[in-house]
Amino acid sequence: MSPSPDAIAEAARLLRAGRLVALPTETVYGLAGDATDDRAVAAIFAAKGRPRFNPLIVHYADTTDARRDAVFGGTAETLARRFWPGPLTLVLPRAPNGRVSLLACAGLDTVAVRIPDHAVARAVIVAVGRPLAAPSANPSGAVSPTSATHVAESLGAHVSLILDGGPCRVGVESTVLDLSGPRPAILRPGGLTREEIEAAIGPVAEDTGVDGAPRSPGRTLRHYATRLPLRLGALDGRADEALLAFGPRVPPGARTTLNLSETGDVIEAAANLFAMLRALDRTGEYAGIAVMPVPEHGLGRAVNDRLRRAAERS
Ligand code: TXA
Ligand code: MG
Repeated sequence: MSPSPDAIAEAARLLRAGRLVALPTETVYGLAGDATDDRAVAAIFAAKGRPRFNPLIVHYADTTDARRDAVFGGTAETLARRFWPGPLTLVLPRAPNGRVSLLACAGLDTVAVRIPDHAVARAVIVAVGRPLAAPSANPSGAVSPTSATHVAESLGAHVSLILDGGPCRVGVESTVLDLSGPRPAILRPGGLTREEIEAAIGPVAEDTGVDGAPRSPGRTLRHYATRLPLRLGALDGRADEALLAFGPRVPPGARTTLNLSETGDVIEAAANLFAMLRALDRTGEYAGIAVMPVPEHGLGRAVNDRLRRAAERS
């Protein structure tokens, strides 16, 4: 549904009644529910088939509202001022009298908060008057949706309303930064680059967690799964594979090719990634998808993270 003022009011009415609404953000589409309502949060886990130990991101219209549910230290305040609204999620200690459902946080003493840089998402949050829990609007483990059509194809039966805001500008999920430990740590590379974060607050750690166990519970899972297997780092084209290319020099040989960015721009590659993976995955007649190398800098880190997880076969 086009996000007219009437549609936004209807979305808010549904959300206040505990129903689920899919809405656009600048990163990917979210499956939103009232973050203060255990039943709505349970419905999100059920709709996605998501394990209950994997906590959800809670979305706010502004930092003042987020401070009611999470404890902001100096670093969090700096980052919020610098990068919100935008594709950055902060993992912070839960505030003592916070409103967020414990289920949304999977029982942890932290809460993941973000302010999306999308007029429709923020208009809905304001109209609801409550924070919204919103994971990516895809079945658990599948490729994230960057258009309303993607949502309708995979989760249509589980949502009361899909607000169509067109294709997502960033195309990969937010960067998840944990500020609850002794040092800031990136738990998930995403739409805000490590370079930008480090320019604002200095060096940040990788997610090594305890004994190598990732601290972001969702990160242990195979994710972004395509039906076809992926062959990463491909430098040649083969007739039995679809080719996901990157840059101006595309090897010959493949019969179907989509190019993440003909100019070799990692930002453009991130915006195209999920839609192109979906499109190649449904060509049907191939044994796999060959993916050309994408440089490991800026948004390329998030792109490569998603590709590595999609390539994981279990
Ligand atoms: O861009 C995005 O972040 C999108 C849009 C809709 O906002 N949302 C999204 O949510 O990607 P989801 O649920 O697909 O991914 C949330 C990630 C998971 O890896 C989860 O484990 C982590 O954030 N997370 C959430 N709460 C956490 C917490 N308290 N501590 C550690 N990790 C947390
Ligand atoms: Mg997701």
